[in-house]
Amino acid sequence: MTLDPHELLSTTRSVRRHLDRTRDVPLEVVLDCLRVAQQAPNGADAETWRFVVVRDPGRRAAIGDCYRRANADFAATVAERAVAGEAWAARKLASSGVFWEHLGEVPVLVVAGVEDQGELDGSPYGLASAYASVLPAVWSLQLAARLRGVGSCLVTSHLRLADEVTGLLGLPSTFRHAGMVALGYLTKERFRPAPRRPLSDIVRLDHWEGVVPEQP
Ligand SMILES: Cc1cc2nc3c(=O)[nH]c(=O)nc-3n(C[C@H](O)[C@H](O)[C@H](O)COP(=O)(O)O)c2cc1C
Repeated sequence: MTLDPHELLSTTRSVRRHLDRTRDVPLEVVLDCLRVAQQAPNGADAETWRFVVVRDPGRRAAIGDCYRRANADFAATVAERAVAGEAWAARKLASSGVFWEHLGEVPVLVVAGVEDQGELDGSPYGLASAYASVLPAVWSLQLAARLRGVGSCLVTSHLRLADEVTGLLGLPSTFRHAGMVALGYLTKERFRPAPRRPLSDIVRLDHWEGVVPEQP
């Protein structure tokens, strides 16, 4: 599909309801996207990023089960609030409920992480350098996928049970989880920009007290 760069960047959403769980995403397509992702910036060009592409149905099901258990309290709260008539909860349940329950049926799960080279010591430098050496690539993976008609959702809730996921995939002790991208062909083509807070709520100019004009 053709998308101009601005539309690609502003309408690539976290897709849950519109991922086709019945259609395989070929490995070559995922690897093509990861080749693009590899062009993202990364600290010292050390390429400490690591990706495990999970296509095996049994392993996906096991990860999906971890996700469901790890997310159960949140999912239950959303369901209760939807029943109580809270509109946001009803919307959330409609867009995400099936995905949360059936994540393991999404054709590809890409577990992303970074190899701890001893600098991940909890300092601002260590943390920022480590995770910022994989997360730009994760977003590039999502953008590259979208251009191929493949939707995605980055998730981290399963990491409440990170040790289980580590065990399931035989990840080394140096692997630090950064998130997981669920990938499936899109059942809908066009998406809209999401409503977000005014820029002046989240951007400061020159100093923490510096206000940016809403419309320059
Ligand atoms: C760090 C991070 C963790 C996330 N974890 C989850 C998750 O566990 N489950 C989920 O359904 N969505 C998850 N998301 C997706 C967010 O809910 C989504 O990005 C947000 O609602 C904004 O929607 P949009 O991406 O379509 O603009 C996560 C996103 C990020 C960046």
